[in-house]
Amino acid sequence: MRGRSRRPGVEGNTRLTSSLGALLLVLLFLEGLTIVSIGSLLTPHIVIGVLLIPPVLLKIASTSWRMVRYYMGHREYRRKGPPAPLLRILGPVIVVLTVVLLASGVGLVVGAPTSWRPQLFTIHRASFVLWFAAMAIHVLGHLVETARFAPRDFIPYTRRQVNGASSRQWALAAALTLGVIAAFAVLPYAANWRASFFG
Ligand code: HEM
Repeated sequence: MRGRSRRPGVEGNTRLTSSLGALLLVLLFLEGLTIVSIGSLLTPHIVIGVLLIPPVLLKIASTSWRMVRYYMGHREYRRKGPPAPLLRILGPVIVVLTVVLLASGVGLVVGAPTSWRPQLFTIHRASFVLWFAAMAIHVLGHLVETARFAPRDFIPYTRRQVNGASSRQWALAAALTLGVIAAFAVLPYAANWRASFFG
């Protein structure tokens, strides 16, 4: 068996990013299903959309950490190297589009004045089209890596090879729990929005 690496390092970061990727793949798929019949599935659309915000933020933090370590010249991150050129260029684009998509959705339901709705609605739909195209490339580009690294903290044999598996799993659980709390908090707004939108 390969020696246990003292510091989680780059493999720990990849495991966290990949397990978040796997979680987001499931949540984004469910969110996608709600779009098929948005009229009847508007409340699940809003709830799942809010639930996935903390995991998305943790994913952005985990990938930003890798980027910062790489540019600071950290030996291990330099050895792993940057993402493939297209994925590297798409990275910041995906972050911006995801923030615009989620913020415009939340703005529509919670807080934005009614007069902003038409613009926010257009921004929400337009950013979704661009986001979907970018995300399709991102998921296809990372699917194999996600399948390789996401299960490693959950399989006893590979789990003990890299330190920090428990804290990574607690971070994942905390992000999901925060998402569920936020989803419950948005429910009354979703009901009001539905009533004001569908009368
Ligand atoms: C809204 C959702 C998502 C956002 C904002 C996001 C963002 C990012 C960013 C900025 C990077 C760094 C650039 C790159 O390497 O491509 C990245 C890497 C990665 N993403 Fe995503 N991503 C999302 C969803 C997903 C999904 C659904 C998957 C699953 C297939 C995934 C799997 C990965 C993997 C495996 C890496 C590379 C990890 C590494 O080698 O350190 N991502 N993501």
